[in-house]
Amino acid sequence: MPTINFVRCMLLLLVISLVDCSIGERVNSSGRVVWSTATDEAELVEDSGVVIGEQDQIDGGFSSLDGMLHWAIGHSDPATLKEAAKDAEKMSMDELQKRQLELKELVEKLKMPSDAKLMQIAIDDLKNSSLSLEDRHRALQELLILVEPIDNANDLSKSGGLSVVAGELNHSDTDVRKLAAWVIGKACQNNPFVQEQVLELGALTALIKMVNSSSAEEAGKALFAVSALIRNNIAGQDMFYAGHGYIMLQDVMSNGSLDIKLRRKSVFLVGDLAECQLQNTEKAELPIFNDRLFLKSVVDLIVVLDLDLQEKALTAIKTLLELKSVEPQILREFCGLEGALERMKLQLEESMVDEDKRDYAADVESLRGEVELIFRQKLGLL
Ligand SMILES: *[C@@H]1O[C@H](CO)[C@@H](O)[C@H](O)[C@H]1NC(C)=O
Ligand SMILES: *[C@@H]1O[C@H](CO)[C@@H](O)[C@H](O)[C@H]1NC(C)=O
Ligand SMILES: *[C@@H]1O[C@H](CO)[C@@H](O)[C@H](O)[C@H]1NC(C)=O
Ligand SMILES: *[C@@H]1O[C@H](CO)[C@@H](O)[C@H](O)[C@H]1NC(C)=O
Ligand SMILES: *[C@@H]1O[C@H](CO)[C@@H](O)[C@H](O)[C@H]1NC(C)=O
Repeated sequence: MPTINFVRCMLLLLVISLVDCSIGERVNSSGRVVWSTATDEAELVEDSGVVIGEQDQIDGGFSSLDGMLHWAIGHSDPATLKEAAKDAEKMSMDELQKRQLELKELVEKLKMPSDAKLMQIAIDDLKNSSLSLEDRHRALQELLILVEPIDNANDLSKSGGLSVVAGELNHSDTDVRKLAAWVIGKACQNNPFVQEQVLELGALTALIKMVNSSSAEEAGKALFAVSALIRNNIAGQDMFYAGHGYIMLQDVMSNGSLDIKLRRKSVFLVGDLAECQLQNTEKAELPIFNDRLFLKSVVDLIVVLDLDLQEKALTAIKTLLELKSVEPQILREFCGLEGALERMKLQLEESMVDEDKRDYAADVESLRGEVELIFRQKLGLL
């Protein structure tokens, strides 16, 4: 059984011979070999570094040789690659063509490990309790790319790999927990099969707790995973309710010292849950929708000075207003929705003076007007 390091070495070898051979002979996604310049190659190195970024989306999967090369280049030393590229410039055209031919043979001979194989290597690494923390992070980062294609996510789930990843949610290192949550979230996204498997593993409870983490990054990835796990999934939403997930949401929405992105994500999830409820009329409405404290924590967000957060809160309220269990009188008396909408109108007028914010503020104002109208209709005032 080759280790992940062995595979990486093999790939690095291949990449260096590619660069060495031709200042960057690349195989594009249709599998054909094309020529590229040294500049492209340098950009490639720059672009590909480690995949941990702000967003929850990454390109990936090794469904093509090209993807594999990006991955290998991202994991190799840029200085070595540049050195190799320089040497290649000195070669004659004949030499280059000869190397190109050799390389083609090499590619044929080297059986590229399949994604399933790479995932298995990463999982075996995670199972090894004496693995260094650095290698553990790396194995999870590799899985993060590998689970992007839906077939890979399904395979990882079927092979029991996701239960190994879920076990990492209990790890003492915050980065391991964060990466594990991220992998799980990514694997579950729009994938009812994987959602069901992960719910059976009981990972939802661990993830809900994890949103309480003092690390904003860990909390953010945990909330991302919770959302991906219960999105359009009735059983998941019932488990979320039973696991007091709504209290977690309420805590995040009402805590002004928390990361604003986390608060945006939480109110977005509220809107998403309400929307799912609307689409599934035969399902009994979740009790959170007539919990006045919960509703108030949503309403309070529309006067927090952050247009993105305000827009998401308004969108959630607009959907909530369509639910049977949401009583407009409670929104008016207990939650103070009328006053909040008034204050928001004034705030938005001020924001519109600012050139940079004008268009966005105008859009939010138009949504605010819509919500106000629906609310007044519900109250029977119109
Ligand atoms: C790949 O290369 C072939 C041959 O040069 C070209 O026809 C094709 O459009 C390329 N595909 C992509 C996705 O770049
Ligand atoms: C577990 O990891 C350690 C440290 O990387 C390594 O020496 C050992 O060979 C690994 N064990 C297995 C079974 O792969
Ligand atoms: C994490 O640890 C707790 C307590 O030690 C345990 O009950 C739970 O099943 C573990 N979770 C996973 C996913 O292994
Ligand atoms: C999160 O932390 C707060 C304060 O420490 C605590 O009251 C709450 O129960 C925790 N929530 C979860 C879901 O662990
Ligand atoms: C709000 O969040 C901060 C930072 O995570 C935390 O220390 C504090 O206990 C939270 N406040 C409440 C009321 O939960």
